[in-house]
Amino acid sequence: MELNGTMEIDGDGVLNIAGIDVCTLAEDFGTPLIVMDEAEIRSNIRSYIEAFEKYYDDYMVLYAGKAFYNRTLFRIMADEGAGIDVVSGGELYTALEADFPVEKIYFHGNNKLSEEIKMGLDCNIGRFVVDNMCEVKLLEKLVAKKNAKIKVDIRLTPGIEAHTHEFIQTGQIDSKFGVSLVENQALNLVKEIVKNENMILKGLHAHIGSQIFDILPYKKLVEVMFDFMVKVREETGKEISELDFGGGLGISYVSQDDPPAVDEFVRELCKKVKVIAEERNYSLPRIIVEPGRSIVGTAGTTLYKVGSIKQVPGMTRYAAVDGGMTDNIRPALYDAVYDAFVANRADENVEEVYTIAGKCCESGDILIKDIELPLLKPGDLIAVTSTGAYTYAMSSNYNGVPRPAVVLVNEGEANVIIERENFEDLIKNDVIPSGY
Ligand code: LLP
Repeated sequence: MELNGTMEIDGDGVLNIAGIDVCTLAEDFGTPLIVMDEAEIRSNIRSYIEAFEKYYDDYMVLYAGKAFYNRTLFRIMADEGAGIDVVSGGELYTALEADFPVEKIYFHGNNKLSEEIKMGLDCNIGRFVVDNMCEVKLLEKLVAKKNAKIKVDIRLTPGIEAHTHEFIQTGQIDSKFGVSLVENQALNLVKEIVKNENMILKGLHAHIGSQIFDILPYKKLVEVMFDFMVKVREETGKEISELDFGGGLGISYVSQDDPPAVDEFVRELCKKVKVIAEERNYSLPRIIVEPGRSIVGTAGTTLYKVGSIKQVPGMTRYAAVDGGMTDNIRPALYDAVYDAFVANRADENVEEVYTIAGKCCESGDILIKDIELPLLKPGDLIAVTSTGAYTYAMSSNYNGVPRPAVVLVNEGEANVIIERENFEDLIKNDVIPSGY
């Protein structure tokens, strides 16, 4: 059993997070409950910032809001000096409602709608990360109408697809994201932007994947980006001043996972940029990274209450919990694996192999296959760890299951940051036309 962040097992064998016993949290706020450990979130973002302070002068860390977005989290990021990346009008709206400093908001998306672009223009957003020629044409129109001056980065499709232990070049050229380097598509996009006096081209962006354990593909990415910058300089005379390497650094979900430390990742990235900049005779650009999972992933723990338990003779022993794929779709969608323990009896020896099932009418609604736990009984509290990223953010109301509450814990205090949905919430957009 690995304990993340401020987790401890107290003398009664109960899991504590931020000094609070989780049985009390479950009683006070109900289950399923997503518990976010503020100290862990802050420590994760600081590990990026502190590493850059050591290894590089000009940098920016953007938290990728898609991993888990809400106003409190954006406030914490602002407090830590980070920027954020948003991918939709909805995420942008949430950031603005959190009074997030707009100059530190980077707006991504492969199909930004006119209304979303207008929102970005109205608030004078820090960067538009433009994805393709269609978007540039739309931006040109909207920017001219407003007579605005905007700063843009270009999202490249670098032809590097990173997996946990390997990376494939060319594999990802065929992507819905970004502009390809093939047949000068990216260069043509640069030329289009450079000739527009309402747009200031600041940087290049690429994102090569998620839950990556290998630094090598990032180093390859540095080379690809610099090669393109040199080409841009030759063809247009334009020097590019910022390079955004996206997010993707992996985290440990189960004990076999062994991601590189943030310090090592940042150190190697900065080292590579310095070497290649010197080789290509290019001024050192600002380095940007956009971690999501590695900021919030290990800070989240989901508490579930055990309900039905059954043994299929000679086969699986199921323990069903009061949530599942509606609050964590990742096992069903990606075969993602998680670790868990019995939070109210965390000191007991394991005795049985269980499959933790969700409560949805879907055979694939299995949270964890074959995990060794002490003998379970209905009412036990299961803590699934490392659930901070891409769980609530991808949650749904399938089967009429209300979304759980999210509580932020820190130094003995617990505050709800997202209220639990209720049944009225489920029908708030449900309209009965007259006569029905
Ligand atoms: N920047 C861009 C442009 C991205 O597309 C992403 C993630 C990130 C940054 C943050 O990546 P991270 O550091 O969190 O790996 N739903 C999937 C993950 C999708 C990631 C999408 N893009 C999952 O649950 O594993």
